[in-house]
Amino acid sequence: MAATTIESVLQENRIFTPAEAFVRQANVSGMDAYRRLCAEAEKDFPGFWGRLAREHVLWKKPFTQVLDESKAPFFRWFADGELNASYNCLDRHLETQPEKTAIIFEADDGKVTRITYRELHRRVCMFANGLKARGVKRGERVVIYMPMSIEAVVAMQACARIGAIHSVVFGGFSAKSLQERIIDAGAIAVLTADGQFRGGREIPLKAAVDEAIAMGGCESIATVVVYRRSGSPVAWQAGRDVWMHDLMAGQPETCEPEWVGAEHPLFILYTSGSTGKPKGVQHSTGGYLLWMILTMKWVFDHKPGDIFWCTADVGWVTGHSYVCYGPLACGATEVIFEGVPVYPDAGRFWKMIQDHKVTVFYTAPTAIRSLIKAGGELPKHYDLSSLRILGTVGEPINPEAWMWYHETVGRGRCPIVDTWWQTETGGLMISPLPGATPTKPGSATFPLPGIFADIVDETGHPVGKGKGGMLVITRPWPAMLRTIWGDPERFRKTYYPADFQGKYYLAGDGASYDEDGYIRIIGRIDDVLNVSGHRLGTMEIESALVANPIVAEAAVVGRPDDLTGEAICAFVVLKQARPGTEDAARIVKDLQDWVGREIGPIAKPRDIRFGENLPKTRSGKIMRRLLRSIARDEEIRQDVSTLENPAILQQLSEKAR
Ligand code: PRX
Repeated sequence: MAATTIESVLQENRIFTPAEAFVRQANVSGMDAYRRLCAEAEKDFPGFWGRLAREHVLWKKPFTQVLDESKAPFFRWFADGELNASYNCLDRHLETQPEKTAIIFEADDGKVTRITYRELHRRVCMFANGLKARGVKRGERVVIYMPMSIEAVVAMQACARIGAIHSVVFGGFSAKSLQERIIDAGAIAVLTADGQFRGGREIPLKAAVDEAIAMGGCESIATVVVYRRSGSPVAWQAGRDVWMHDLMAGQPETCEPEWVGAEHPLFILYTSGSTGKPKGVQHSTGGYLLWMILTMKWVFDHKPGDIFWCTADVGWVTGHSYVCYGPLACGATEVIFEGVPVYPDAGRFWKMIQDHKVTVFYTAPTAIRSLIKAGGELPKHYDLSSLRILGTVGEPINPEAWMWYHETVGRGRCPIVDTWWQTETGGLMISPLPGATPTKPGSATFPLPGIFADIVDETGHPVGKGKGGMLVITRPWPAMLRTIWGDPERFRKTYYPADFQGKYYLAGDGASYDEDGYIRIIGRIDDVLNVSGHRLGTMEIESALVANPIVAEAAVVGRPDDLTGEAICAFVVLKQARPGTEDAARIVKDLQDWVGREIGPIAKPRDIRFGENLPKTRSGKIMRRLLRSIARDEEIRQDVSTLENPAILQQLSEKAR
């Protein structure tokens, strides 16, 4: 396990207390209300969760046991209860608010489409019936590779309706990544689009699906459903391929939901780890849904009149939890955006908040930083008075960006919720409550009620106030991942390591408490990078590089970057001689493109440096800490006495441009 005594160097003493008027109207009103919920969970853990699950989720068959710990860490929640996620997101609103707008969709070119709960329900049912007609059944896996669209939500909800397990692959991943996920999940269908529009450019999607399937190993795929978005010509395989509109045409407008056990997998979502291939994080139906509803109400203070906008792509967990499931289960009106924040200009987000009167806005620190850079004054030109809560997710937010968000976007009025969580946790875990928690810039503050988090040292002992260590979750929670698809042993080893006698969920993040007990997330303690809020394993990028015929060896580390949080730096040993300046520039470009094709453009190394070797100990272990220093252009002050080949450091310090 990595070194763990992490001292926080940052002192942040500014405190922002929620305004009295906000506190009064909040779903969790004031710190006492927060503490009462925490105390209830502490006093009677199953009683707390059982009460909430009965109050907030619609069950076809009620559960009799809240938590089954007998096979820990394979926890089971509400296991004998039965429900359907799509029923909870759609049907429950049909009687109460069928004409309410569920989704306001804004396309890349600015065209706006609205859809009511009634219409969304109708389309989900028709699509679900269409999938059934193609033989997709309960428990079967369906890969979704679609642009941000109403149709992507229809696709996910339709899978949930028939008990099929969806696995969404972000549209920015390459054909190769898609193929690997299709194979690992054993999917029988892929749902895609002809193309997507981002920043005025058309990006093909169906072509990548064709390419992925042609790579082999995807023989299980019997159906490819294509949503017509761009209208550009696509290759077609008769029998296998079908247009989404043709599949839906003539289908009945209702579809009896498939009632599934609470533990039935709702979805698999692949994410990077420190070793091996991306892992298929498997989530449940009942516990997951409960937590989406609760976090919407507690952290986003959901009210019927809200216009909620989470900017995350449905390809990431944030898009699952706070685009597809959470808002719809709460009957919210939400905004879905196809494009990018800087097109046609860096005022796009602010214009959309103004046009759609967005009340709750949730985005990533990377987006905030890039918008500060591209036009820090721009928000002032828009009417942002509809906003009442601002949120961030995905990476630590630096206090400067936090202050800008607070002052320039929120005009000092809106509480900021800095939400810490992970693909594995399903939903928010450590976060302020907007009508309760006094916030400090750069701190995710405290665990939510029912979540028991701590910061511990290598021996598993809590470090206490003012200290840093490893972030752990000490009790199970309903929305936790259940396993890694097809690899329960990897699940156990990764998240419930023997180091802590298998008692704690190890988040993989370093964190520290300040003197007031506020939690500050420092970053990953494993070999996982966080680039623009996206997780990438260094091993994955190394494997991609080494798969190139000219590469003998590669090591990848991160270095801090003002905009993207971390930037990817690769150190490469070629099978041929170390290149001179001119050749180096060409090879860098080739290798960047190569990684783009192997994994996806987000994984392209920013810097690539060449050496005749890598810095290794006498036992052959790569000394990554040295590489990290080199990547930061730091002078090497560390102990290099165990280094086999010190001369190599000089070579690697020379940047190829
Ligand atoms: O390192 C933490 C960082 O993002 C990781 C989880 O990434 P992923 O599974 O892709 O999910 C991202 C969206 C939930 C964490 O291990 N992270 C997430 N939120 C924060 C954060 N780091 C600091 N502050 C946050 N609010």
